[in-house]
Amino acid sequence: MNEMSENKQKIAIYPGSFDPITWGHIDIIKRASLLFDHVIVAIANNMNKQPLFTVDERMEMIRASISGIANISVDSFQGLLVKYARRNNAVAVIRGLRAVSDFEFELQMALVNRKLDEQLITVFLMPHEKYSYLNSSIVRELASLDGNIDCFVPEIVKQKLLIKMRKK
Ligand code: COA
Repeated sequence: MNEMSENKQKIAIYPGSFDPITWGHIDIIKRASLLFDHVIVAIANNMNKQPLFTVDERMEMIRASISGIANISVDSFQGLLVKYARRNNAVAVIRGLRAVSDFEFELQMALVNRKLDEQLITVFLMPHEKYSYLNSSIVRELASLDGNIDCFVPEIVKQKLLIKMRKK
């Protein structure tokens, strides 16, 4: 742990698919920005999921959604999260816990990541309860069925979703 405690800047990675970013993610980002000197929102690029938005589109939406927060940057990565975290001198990985149902998967991931790199600490943050049922698939489905998504995503994300759905 010594090497880690000598790190002056406390950098955290908030990884995920962000397909697209929602107010629930933004809630977590804001909380993390208060705890760490710098937070990197990192889109995982090698996932099994078939994303609706390209990595560049997702990065653009995240940047636009968090433009008011100074200590955040947006990036993407391929390969192992722990390696990406190390390359960026991160001390922590942020994960959101929305409900008990998240716990098992998150625990497994945190323990595997700890096994791979003991110095990397997983920090769980809880979003506001009004976002506890929210995920990106629900938002995508609502958008595809012309449902109202105003309270789930920022305006720019809503516009991008509407354009994407029209093209489909
Ligand atoms: N608000 C709203 N929705 C949220 C949310 C929040 N605060 N937190 C999570 N979600 C939703 C996401 O929108 C996503 O919804 P979807 O499945 O409907 O698209 C879902 O919860 C999953 O969340 P996400 O954080 O994107 O996790 P993931 O399972 O897609 O990705 C990674 C997990 C990217 C962190 C993990 O796969 C990883 O680290 N990959 C890199 C490779 C690696 O190192 N593997 C070993 C890890 S043990």
